[in-house]
Amino acid sequence: MVIPVRTLVTGAAGFIGSTLVDRLLSDGHHVVGLDDLSHGRPENLDDAHKQDRFAFVQADIVDADLNGLLADIRPELVFHLAAQIDVRRSVDEPEFDAMVNAVGTVRLAEAARRAEVRKIVNTSSGGAVYGVPQRYPTGEDAPAEPASPYVASKVAAELYLASFRSLYGMDCTHIAPSNVYGPRQDPHGEAGVVAVFAKAMLAANPDLAGIYATNEGSAIGAVDAANELKIEPGKVKIVGFDSGKAQIDAIKSGIMAGAITQNPIGIGEATVQAAVDAIAGKQLPKFIDTGFFWYDKTNLEDPKIKAVLYE
Ligand SMILES: NC(=O)c1ccc[n+]([C@@H]2O[C@H](COP(=O)([O-])OP(=O)(O)OC[C@H]3O[C@@H](n4cnc5c(N)ncnc54)[C@H](O)[C@@H]3O)[C@@H](O)[C@H]2O)c1
Repeated sequence: MVIPVRTLVTGAAGFIGSTLVDRLLSDGHHVVGLDDLSHGRPENLDDAHKQDRFAFVQADIVDADLNGLLADIRPELVFHLAAQIDVRRSVDEPEFDAMVNAVGTVRLAEAARRAEVRKIVNTSSGGAVYGVPQRYPTGEDAPAEPASPYVASKVAAELYLASFRSLYGMDCTHIAPSNVYGPRQDPHGEAGVVAVFAKAMLAANPDLAGIYATNEGSAIGAVDAANELKIEPGKVKIVGFDSGKAQIDAIKSGIMAGAITQNPIGIGEATVQAAVDAIAGKQLPKFIDTGFFWYDKTNLEDPKIKAVLYE
């Protein structure tokens, strides 16, 4: 049984923040999302707004009255994702970057301390903090190599939170994601890594016949790249994997040729059959092929296909 927790998510309208909000809500928690909407999109929170356990506050962590806000919200847990995430902007405007990522985090930490928040889960950066690593795999004990002001401000935020732990015992965990990709990612920044690579591949190879994207996030990246380069639908055959609204829309519009999906119903049936056989003492095969489906514009409405897709 899940014990509902009151949470605050900063950067809630962003790519990762909004995905976290949806997950917290589906796990039964209460969520207040905070975002200044400088980069996040309100529509990322459309699903969240359908739940009465969700509330949204538009505020800038640099100058909002965070003490007052947290005193009202009284979160037990704060997930801190609000940030200036553009490495190039951090080089052009290091002061702005430091204000949002370092000073914004200190302001949040101080407000959290006053509101007796139990824990802050801070989002640092694994893709950038360690620079060009000296060894692979790179452990979290690797030294920080700030090659940009963005990294410096992210490391500074970690250190400030560590000082709050030493001074006040405020619990804190740092998450250091590398290059995250998936639905809602911004295809324009370096974070939209698949779109960036696919765009480079398409630009360098104008006669490329097709791209096979091996999961939903990669397929969305390839579609974003083709859209950005204004490639005529169908000229490059983009084949995806799995499901999701973005792929289904791209297939309907002709940008994607189609996709392969697993057969969740078949997986369920085969699993139950294997369990029954195992109980009966039968020898099970080492591999069980649970099947797959090809879907494209021609069979999207087929009930057999519809049953194995999700939006
Ligand atoms: N996307 C990645 O690959 C990646 C990798 C490593 C770390 N991160 C970190 O994860 C977090 C989320 O990143 P994302 O990719 O979802 O980016 P994102 O830009 O989609 O989300 C950040 C959100 O913060 C909001 N924001 C920015 N400045 C703010 C301010 N002053 N006050 C309130 N809100 C503000 C933006 O409007 C945006 O919605 C960031 O802290 C980022 O540094 C992301």
